[in-house]
Amino acid sequence: MDNRRLAILLSGRGSNFVAIHEAIRRGDLNATICCVISNVAEAAGFGRAREFGLKAECLPSKGADREAYDRRLVEKLIKYDPALICLAGFMRILSPAVIRAFPKRILNIHPALLPSFPGLHAQRQALEHGVKVSGCTVHFADEGVDTGPIILQRAVEVREGDDEETLSARILEQEHQAYWRAIALVLDRMNAGAG
Ligand code: GAR
Repeated sequence: MDNRRLAILLSGRGSNFVAIHEAIRRGDLNATICCVISNVAEAAGFGRAREFGLKAECLPSKGADREAYDRRLVEKLIKYDPALICLAGFMRILSPAVIRAFPKRILNIHPALLPSFPGLHAQRQALEHGVKVSGCTVHFADEGVDTGPIILQRAVEVREGDDEETLSARILEQEHQAYWRAIALVLDRMNAGAG
């Protein structure tokens, strides 16, 4: 039977989550969001999930022991039986235990053309390096930071006079196009049995 259930993990603004939700609502992405999990209670994205009437749970990570936290996260995720777990600005590094619990089922989005500029402040790193093209990457999460097989990328030109804010805004527009398309590709492949 098809499983098109998405678990979304976020920590902040949640604009990528909202873009995925809208793609589902428009009928562009054949999927359902089974839960939104935030590690930050005040995250704007968490509030949006509640407004949308989605199952939204907060699992606060502040001060938590990493291993214990990740164990609780895995237990919670298993309960929702997601086909895919989509990291959407989830600002925590997942321990190998989480990655191994869901092999090839955790997706991440990153605001650079990986393998360039992994980690924090990817757009600032790109500007500092003077690249003329940057963009965004959707990839499977593995045990590294912003590593793992690439599913889809979108390029964004770096313009004369760009600063972190203007470049980030143009990359974000592309993130909102890229993430749901990457999810659709992977779900179609999984549900066709080739996953
Ligand atoms: C996005 O730009 C995403 O690519 C980035 O965090 C932002 C979250 O925005 N993720 C990373 O840098 C992961 N290394 P959002 O909360 O509005 O979706």
